[in-house]
Amino acid sequence: MTAATSSGRWLDLAPEPAGPRGFAGTSELASWREHPAAQQPEWPDPARLAAVTAELAQLPPLVFSGECDQLTDRLAAVARGEAFLLQGGDCAETFAGSTAAAIRAKLQTLLQMAVVLTYGASVPVVKIGRMAGQFAKPRSRATELRDGVELPAYRGDAVNGFDFSAQARVPDPARLLRAYHCSAVTLNLCRAFTTGGYADLHQAHAWNQDFVADSPAGQRYERLAGEIDRALGFMRACGADPRELRTVELYSSHEALLLDYEHALARTDSRTGRIYDTSAHFLWVGERTRAPDGAHVEFARSIANPIGVKLGPGTTPAELLALAGTLNPDRQPGRLTLITRMGARQVRTVLPGLVQALAAEGTPVAWVCDPMHGNTFEAPSGHKTRRFDDVLDELHGFFEVHRAAGTHPGGIHIEFTGDNVTECVGGSHEIVADDLHQRYETACDPRLNRSQSLDLAFTVAESYRTERGSA
Ligand code: PEP
Ligand code: CO
Repeated sequence: MTAATSSGRWLDLAPEPAGPRGFAGTSELASWREHPAAQQPEWPDPARLAAVTAELAQLPPLVFSGECDQLTDRLAAVARGEAFLLQGGDCAETFAGSTAAAIRAKLQTLLQMAVVLTYGASVPVVKIGRMAGQFAKPRSRATELRDGVELPAYRGDAVNGFDFSAQARVPDPARLLRAYHCSAVTLNLCRAFTTGGYADLHQAHAWNQDFVADSPAGQRYERLAGEIDRALGFMRACGADPRELRTVELYSSHEALLLDYEHALARTDSRTGRIYDTSAHFLWVGERTRAPDGAHVEFARSIANPIGVKLGPGTTPAELLALAGTLNPDRQPGRLTLITRMGARQVRTVLPGLVQALAAEGTPVAWVCDPMHGNTFEAPSGHKTRRFDDVLDELHGFFEVHRAAGTHPGGIHIEFTGDNVTECVGGSHEIVADDLHQRYETACDPRLNRSQSLDLAFTVAESYRTERGSA
């Protein structure tokens, strides 16, 4: 991670006392409470929630305002067509999954994908993990029915338990504190890995060690790492050993879903008076909570972090213009990232209208493709899954649409894990529907495994290079 205060900016470390209505955090942010908030848990004990948010409001920020501003600058480069965004990680992080081994495996995958993209597409890659805070999930149904028993849906470890029991499914505010602490340890390890030598490009081979032997994607990566080695050797022989190759700039992100939690982590930047949500560098508003007059958009509008919005196939140009006007009224490049998740079948018909509407209006945004969430279906075995070919097809559609519109295909947003799970079907090391039960471990949506993630990075690198005409 980058130095916390590279822009010389510090947050006001003394949080405000609890506000007049019992909630803690920065009182200027309270306007979201006047808007309808979708997807909030029904906490059984409001007093307990107030006590927890008061405690969270006293805890140190997880990220600094200067880091968030630096990410805004990086995303401005994406919006201008000078860089590419790689954003990815778990659909839902879990407390049990916040282990050193799991965090390292995800980081390894992200670093490997980034190397493939940087080298293969010759473009600077901005790296954001769906990590260190992705503990809450929106659900299409408030309850889950199994064998005639109906219980509240699992809403992520920050809210309730995954086990299908009445006790586990009761929302418990104490989980918000645990989400904060798991975010802190995850972020700490990521900062250590990315600045402490592990992310050094000279280690590109080492990241691949534990899985190269039996995977076509791993072997392809190994060849690329060999080329990088030779390039580094050449540079060294010429007397060049740039510091930039020794560390990696990595940012954290999650969906800003639980507004009581996000609000409690808001802090005022003492230099500028602007408010940052210090739970992560980048926050996004999900497809289910992006109503232009809803509480989530109002919250996102009020914070100075770079923000994203997910856009599904039902998005209309008018809705998009309303969102862009509210979330980025000053048209600041890098402030707003639009993450489209149309599905392979609709990306070529729906995305063009949205891209044209925004281009006509002149708002600079980073366009990013989430090729996962529009391509989920249920396999005969009952597993929620995604076809790798559909994921690639949506990506190809995304590139085609942006080429036709003359806009920049700015990046990808994906769900992956560092482990060899069997949750999505397809890939060069093929997983078929009958394999799904073998290692189906996700707490929510099906994720690409390490090999599928690398396959995807190679394909995206090729498409990007071809689209940009620099092959
Ligand atoms: C997600 O990113 O896990 C998610 C729920 O996405 P969306 O809001 O696009 O449905
Ligand atoms: Co998901």
